[in-house]
Amino acid sequence: MTNNLTVIVLAAGGGTRMRSKTPKVLHPICGRSMLGHVLAAVREVQPQRVVAVVGHQREQVAPHVQEHLPEVVLAIQEEQLGTGHAVRVAMEAAGDASGTVLVAYGDTPLLEGRSLREFAAEHEAAQRAVSILSGVVPEPFGYGRVVRDGDGEVVAIVEEKDATVDQRAIAEINSGILAFDAEFLLEALPRISNDNAKGEYYLTDAVQLARDAGLTVGAHPLEDVLQTEGANDRVQLAELGRELNRRILTRWMREGVTVMDPATTWIDADVVLAQDVTVLPGTQLLGATVVGEDAVVGPDTTLRDCEVGTGARVVRTHGELAVVGDGANVGPFAYLRPGTRLGADGKIGAFVETKNAEIGDGAKVPHLSYVGDASIGEGSNIGAGTIFANYDGVAKHRTSVGRHARTGSNNTFVAPVSIGDGAGTAGGTVVRRDVPPGALAVSSGPQRNVDDWVLRRRPGTAQAAAAEEARARSGEPSHIGEDRIGTDPAGGAESAPAPPPATREQDR
Ligand code: UD1
Ligand code: CA
Repeated sequence: MTNNLTVIVLAAGGGTRMRSKTPKVLHPICGRSMLGHVLAAVREVQPQRVVAVVGHQREQVAPHVQEHLPEVVLAIQEEQLGTGHAVRVAMEAAGDASGTVLVAYGDTPLLEGRSLREFAAEHEAAQRAVSILSGVVPEPFGYGRVVRDGDGEVVAIVEEKDATVDQRAIAEINSGILAFDAEFLLEALPRISNDNAKGEYYLTDAVQLARDAGLTVGAHPLEDVLQTEGANDRVQLAELGRELNRRILTRWMREGVTVMDPATTWIDADVVLAQDVTVLPGTQLLGATVVGEDAVVGPDTTLRDCEVGTGARVVRTHGELAVVGDGANVGPFAYLRPGTRLGADGKIGAFVETKNAEIGDGAKVPHLSYVGDASIGEGSNIGAGTIFANYDGVAKHRTSVGRHARTGSNNTFVAPVSIGDGAGTAGGTVVRRDVPPGALAVSSGPQRNVDDWVLRRRPGTAQAAAAEEARARSGEPSHIGEDRIGTDPAGGAESAPAPPPATREQDR
């Protein structure tokens, strides 16, 4: 393969049809910007140098390019005077440039490194001054057409606005990706004029210049024309997004992943799936999400930057920056927020929200709970409806629950607080003080039963009738006199029982 390759990525244009404050090339598709996809393809070719031409909104575009490709050379094109001008600016910034120069655009998200590599190799093998990566399309409108002579030799690229009626009928178009002999390019660039319908410096004029100098020119049609298609507006962005997603899903299915419904499944470019993963309908795996072997994700699950262990199950869940251990169970209807780490064989069940929560191996938070800023030791079980109250209105605090603890339902753990190994809490406990290992924390008041309250205060209701019937069945006499039942105001305004005359003191 080529040992002196320069790749120029053109990304200075405006993209007004996006109607967006975000520069066109930064619009995302499948988890990366369009430009990010192009730069990934370029990196695969392992060029000696990459020059990115930035101009329009370069305060946003330039840092993005540097983040993806720190070794990039940035060339600033103040005014977008045409592709020929852009490449001239790039060649000035490139410094030494001999060998081969490949020009690509920043808005073609389906471009693959392999296509670039094969194109550059063919260009070099044929020892051409210019090679065109072309494509045959049913609707060539708007593209530069590849004009060939009677022998089928390429003679020029003619832009739409400058084309004759006959030339407009040509179906072979310039994809925009061109390869040059660097020496020829440096010599040709200053000779390109802007004397054309758009008043721009057309890089494509270099083809004719090479022909005129008796140099070799050729075109290499790329069968998969979508690889060089750009998105100019949001309709095309969605179309290319769906197509790229389809390609990503196809690749994973070929690698041994079951995707039950590709039409409702979205997988970002950087996601990694192991063999025998099953992805159920309505699932989005985003960012840098990684899913281990035999795991089942979905239906209706969105995971961004999550790690799902081998054999885990994640059902109807929304997760971000969370780790689910091997064999663990999550959902349905769980919300895993950043910093959640669920251990192997652990459980985060229905209607549970977690954040900065380390939940140990085999530990379970099965129902209706909020676990924030907490650690739960291995094998512990958190009762239904437990709130880890981590926020005092000013600062966040941590709660720690030890190993093999058993906490009751409807608890509140008021952080900072800790519950020791093997400790327990009774139902309805509000834990404000640390619970030592092995202790049982009880904080709710003793229960009082106000006998026959319903019969006195709700006479004539279904509730009272049910109570009467139950008593009749058991044969127990009423605790209240007949006269009182009739005289109590029916349907009173009270919403809670009146204080009873006497209480039974229990488990104080
Ligand atoms: C260009 C080609 C055309 C090809 C088509 C494929 C020329 C003259 N025409 O036409 O043959 O069929 O692409 O899509 O090259 N850019 C800059 N600076 C500029 C001008 C453009 O960076 O001064 C960038 C744009 O951001 C864009 C790319 O170059 O990414 C192409 O520019 P555009 O104006 O869209 O060219 P087309 O008219 O589409
Ligand atoms: Ca274009």
